[in-house]
Amino acid sequence: MKTIIEPFRIKSVEPITMTTPQEREQHLTEAGFNLFLLRARHVLIDLLTDSGTGAMSAEQWAGIMRGDESYAGADSFFRFEKTLRDITGFKNILPTHQGRASERILFQLVGGEGKVVPNNTHFDTTLANIEHSGALAVNLPIPEGMDPKNRHPFKGNMDIQALEALIAEVGADNIPVVMLTITNNSGGGQPVSLENIRAVRAVCQKHGLPFYLDACRFAENAWFIKMREEGQRDRPVREIVREIFDLSDGATISAKKDGMVNMGGVLLMRDDNLFQEATNLLILTEGYITYGGLAGRDLEAMAQGFEEILREDYLQYRIRSTAYLGERLLDMGVQIIEPPGGHAIYVDAAAFCPHIPAEQFPGQAVVCGLYREGGIRACEIGSVMFGQHETPSMELVRLAIPRRVYTQSHIDYVLEVFEALFARSDSLRGMRIIKEPPALRHFTARFAEI
Ligand code: F0G
Repeated sequence: MKTIIEPFRIKSVEPITMTTPQEREQHLTEAGFNLFLLRARHVLIDLLTDSGTGAMSAEQWAGIMRGDESYAGADSFFRFEKTLRDITGFKNILPTHQGRASERILFQLVGGEGKVVPNNTHFDTTLANIEHSGALAVNLPIPEGMDPKNRHPFKGNMDIQALEALIAEVGADNIPVVMLTITNNSGGGQPVSLENIRAVRAVCQKHGLPFYLDACRFAENAWFIKMREEGQRDRPVREIVREIFDLSDGATISAKKDGMVNMGGVLLMRDDNLFQEATNLLILTEGYITYGGLAGRDLEAMAQGFEEILREDYLQYRIRSTAYLGERLLDMGVQIIEPPGGHAIYVDAAAFCPHIPAEQFPGQAVVCGLYREGGIRACEIGSVMFGQHETPSMELVRLAIPRRVYTQSHIDYVLEVFEALFARSDSLRGMRIIKEPPALRHFTARFAEI
């Protein structure tokens, strides 16, 4: 068979409704041209994020009913813990309410003034949590990762030489952890090779540094390893996943991605003393160790979700359907980060509207254009998101694909909207910020059109 079909059928549906162009104009103006400030009911196809927006399975909903809501020692916790132990091999496992809660606990413990934390590319909440602790977050992607047209199979890799140079420059004593984000979200949803993970591990071992994963999309990353890396094709994804975790000393995980739940997170730590401190912080601010700020039913859904994500027919469909969107955009002449990533397609907004300079936020112009044209919500990842911190090297628009939510005809509709917008891309206008908070401005800033 040539067609890779959705490996599920639909049991429960949620209506979506189209708005008129006039209504969208009004909603956009009221939202200050920031799509985070739109009412979700005014969006037709929501590609803002793949985080917490997936569809749960019948088994996950069954788990919701089974949830044990005991304050301490709930069955649901032990089911969650056993699943995570089986998959990752870690003994020390804490549930948290989402990825950034894990990050906050980790960096409150190991961050601080004078510390430096390298990563292939920090996600924005990781960066913000590191900086909030007083430490410096440094991105060390490989040069190929910065070139949208480069078809390197593992563009998410970390630059090993740059890591060595950073350690030599700032000193191993000032680096509390080395992180690796799999897949590299801010770098285009690109995977990291097993070879690179092993190499980062080796550098860490040489300098006595703990090696942590930001493992939100570990299963998608493992699928790319299976498909693209020499000698990996015949290994079960589960085994590749286990090797990845075995190489690490800890991990922060947002279960809202490959955990296939609407809310949840995980913190893994090999170091027993650090784990004890993390446990204390968890109790202080999240909740008791057997629920970590979640309900028992959430832990059930996570336990089931982490199992389902390792189904290879699912991963094949998932990665193929993302590539479908990316390849058709390329056919149309829309430049994306090549090759297509795992959870999202990243459109090169600077190439889409070359008449809009970076200071006028071309990504935001494209995002507003997609909403006006067809009620699609996407996310700017460029000067709006990172401009308060640095000058980003790329102006991107991310089309993130929620897991198990949209069908191929939804995606074909997205492609039609793109075609229409691309045909009139020279009519897109630059934007300026009229109000912004001191950090993470993309969530709440308001814009005006130039
Ligand atoms: N790390 C990565 C690589 C992420 O993509 C995210 C979230 C987080 C950490 C934080 O997890 O949201 O559960 O607190 N990414 C979402 C996104 C928000 O849209 O890419 P969280």
